[in-house]
Amino acid sequence: MSDTPAKSYGRKSIRLSVKPSDLMAEPALRPGIWTARVITLFPNAFPGVLEESLTGRALNEGKWNLELTDLRSFGVGKHRNVDDTPAGGGAGMVLRPDVVGAAVEDATRNARGNCPLVYLSPRGRRFDQAMARSWSEADGVTLLCGRFEGVDQRVLDHYGFTEVSLGDFVLTGGEIAAQAMIDATVRLLPSVLGNADSIEDESHSHGLLEHPQYTRPAEWMDRPIPEVLMSGHHGKIEEWRQKMAEQITRERRPDMWDAYQKNKGE
Ligand SMILES: C[S@@+](CC[C@H](N)C(=O)[O-])C[C@H]1O[C@@H](n2cnc3c(N)ncnc32)[C@H](O)[C@@H]1O
Repeated sequence: MSDTPAKSYGRKSIRLSVKPSDLMAEPALRPGIWTARVITLFPNAFPGVLEESLTGRALNEGKWNLELTDLRSFGVGKHRNVDDTPAGGGAGMVLRPDVVGAAVEDATRNARGNCPLVYLSPRGRRFDQAMARSWSEADGVTLLCGRFEGVDQRVLDHYGFTEVSLGDFVLTGGEIAAQAMIDATVRLLPSVLGNADSIEDESHSHGLLEHPQYTRPAEWMDRPIPEVLMSGHHGKIEEWRQKMAEQITRERRPDMWDAYQKNKGE
């Protein structure tokens, strides 16, 4: 724990453990469980959408941990300031390295094993399925959510943060990106996977986008389900799905199609 004035505020980590009623309480830490540590000015934005469906059930069942560190409680002075004006001038505010540094120390004090340290940033490498898979094979991940103009570069350099982007656009803060990345990762955890086959087949798992999907009714708005899917002939269905996946990838993502062709040739 750091020596910042925020120390007098006591605990700065909120850990969402098995029961929601444990919120703000001393955590029932489950060692060895994949853990997402999120450092944010807006801990109330979590678990957000991660509380729903597969990820939410898995969180409640203790299949993964979510630990939140409130950046504000490491702020300095009477007003718990976390930011200051950019050195050299310019618009906006920058998150202070002493504040972020103290939060990082606190957030990671229980981290064990391989836990990538990630700063969510539009300057970073673009997040993709391969990264989600590699994080799911780690012991967890620590995500720093920026706000304003971002974070003082020194704190990123000091801790060796990897910068990761959700895409080529600018969000107001890192929280939405963090939830998207945690969602993509948690659903790949072996303990969370309901149906491993559905993950095997889906877009991006074999370098192709997924084939179209259909369900009942057999005809809707004069549009029937493609006949082959109703034939019960598994070989033909597989062949059709592969053909459609290739066609969609070729049309929509020439970059992926080129990479797929290249890999096939190797
Ligand atoms: C308004 S943005 C700062 C943008 C920064 N001044 C720049 O031009 O690179 C505030 C915060 O939102 C988050 N953020 C914005 N866009 C993002 C993206 N595409 N992926 C991940 N995080 C993003 C980052 O944490 C960033 O520090």
